[in-house]
Amino acid sequence: MSLPIAQHQNAVKTVVVPAAGMGTRFLPATKTIPKELLPVVDTPGIELVAKEAADLGASQLAIITAPNKDGILKHFEAFPELEATLEARGKTDQLNKVRAARELIATVPVVQEKPLGLGHAVGLAESVLDDDEDVVAVMLPDDLVLPFGVTERMAEVRAKFGGSVLAAIEVAEDEVSSYGVFELGELDAESENEGIRRVVGMVEKPAPEDAPSRFAATGRYLLDRAIFDALRRIEPGAGGELQLTDAIALLIEEGHPVHIVVHEGKRHDLGNPAGYIPAVVYFGLRHAEYGSKIHRAVKEIIAEFES
Ligand code: G1P
Repeated sequence: MSLPIAQHQNAVKTVVVPAAGMGTRFLPATKTIPKELLPVVDTPGIELVAKEAADLGASQLAIITAPNKDGILKHFEAFPELEATLEARGKTDQLNKVRAARELIATVPVVQEKPLGLGHAVGLAESVLDDDEDVVAVMLPDDLVLPFGVTERMAEVRAKFGGSVLAAIEVAEDEVSSYGVFELGELDAESENEGIRRVVGMVEKPAPEDAPSRFAATGRYLLDRAIFDALRRIEPGAGGELQLTDAIALLIEEGHPVHIVVHEGKRHDLGNPAGYIPAVVYFGLRHAEYGSKIHRAVKEIIAEFES
């Protein structure tokens, strides 16, 4: 039984986590292991996102998976044999780690049969929403936005301005074509101070010369329920896929308020080895048990590489 929306801090009940991608940039590892379960030190990226969703006050994680990616769901289930063995051996720390994912938040699976795009994946989540949900959060598990907590900020912005709110980072000009890019409205002194900007357009993966700004979507969205209707009305866009960006652009065109929170912190892209490995190093260096050993080893590797 899910709780009424009023009992959800930040008024978000469901966080949608699209995790149906094929993980081609991590083959051959992702032949059998879903990309979202690759460890950031010892914890799968998707568990970090589940924690972020729980911290936002959400009560369910709608995980969009592809057929054959049920390992992701298993990660959020009990594992009685393993837990009994760890318990019998008195390995309490490990036992707590094994149990942590399922204790964070309830998960509900949604299967995307065909890879038709992020917009299609998010659209499927409508079926698991309760009638009292007028907003849904989307967290892309490839993006780690640090320090955690940007969605709480976004919820405050939605409480003030209504509509939909997205997280943005400023990227270099030659990187814009990897992102959904925002066209920004006139500066409003008060909101700019807080790193909040009104958005007047959005385009998916533009060529640098066509990019309306260098502010890019970074995997955290608070979307008004109207997004589902917009998702039904878009055509395939960039890459021939149904793009979430295009549905947001459609809402903007129709006068729906959309704002961004410009994130000044760090962002890791777990979606490819060149972003994933630095993320592992970043968390590894800060790890209570392994941090100092990793620090020493990484320094040696770099010194040797540079000499
Ligand atoms: C997706 C979105 C894009 C966004 C990006 C953030 O792209 O389509 O708008 O900027 O995530 O990581 P993808 O990385 O799946 O190609």
